[in-house]
Amino acid sequence: MRSYKIVPSILSADHGKLVEEALQVHLPGIDHLHVDIMDGHFVPNLTFGPQVVASLKQHTPFRLDVHLMIEAVDDYIPQFAAAGADILTIHQEATPHLHRSLHLIREQGIKAGVSLNPATPLETLHWVLTEVDLVLIMSVDPGFGGQKFIRATLEKIRRLVQWRKERRLKFIIEVDGGITEQTAPLAYEAGAEYLVAGNAVFGHPDRVAAVHRIQRAIDEHQARRRTIIT
Ligand code: DX5
Ligand code: ZN
Repeated sequence: MRSYKIVPSILSADHGKLVEEALQVHLPGIDHLHVDIMDGHFVPNLTFGPQVVASLKQHTPFRLDVHLMIEAVDDYIPQFAAAGADILTIHQEATPHLHRSLHLIREQGIKAGVSLNPATPLETLHWVLTEVDLVLIMSVDPGFGGQKFIRATLEKIRRLVQWRKERRLKFIIEVDGGITEQTAPLAYEAGAEYLVAGNAVFGHPDRVAAVHRIQRAIDEHQARRRTIIT
């Protein structure tokens, strides 16, 4: 079975005790934490700055998967890298000089990710796919947790898997938005390797059970598929 990671998003956690909340999902196989940075311009919501990223880095053992939903990215990339981001993902729609911004991330010695909103064609990434370590396919319009998964995204993931194979590239495929016990198996089957889950984890009082339910849903779905095929 192809491996995958559930990446909990602390957007849906209690922001008054982020470190404590994050530590609750420090489980076997959960080694990345997704941190959503919103500026109130690119998306209609505000969240955290580099200081929060630095605190999470200092007080938790996770690799930090930092999702920048902000404009003027070049002004902030060095700050988020210095704060401890391990992966820094920027939006194709948020910067006119995507190639330059991706290089700026890699110059900081960390992984560079690029993200696409649901309405943005995959083709917009054609000329930068060689420059990225991760492609984040948004399966909701970014800005808020707890939204409904947009199913058309599955086809986008499948096509991206195909492109990666044809061009012999190696980036990670991540999906973000509306991942639940119901949608996680579909995103996994389409080809997503990192599955971000906010509300489906931190929206439940027992976070450990919530993570296990998503993992079990993927594993059981795969087992059923194998039985049908063999
Ligand atoms: C949405 C954020 C997501 C968010 C996902 O704009 O980028 O990372 O935390 O939350 P859920 O899993 O609740 O859709
Ligand atoms: Zn995100």
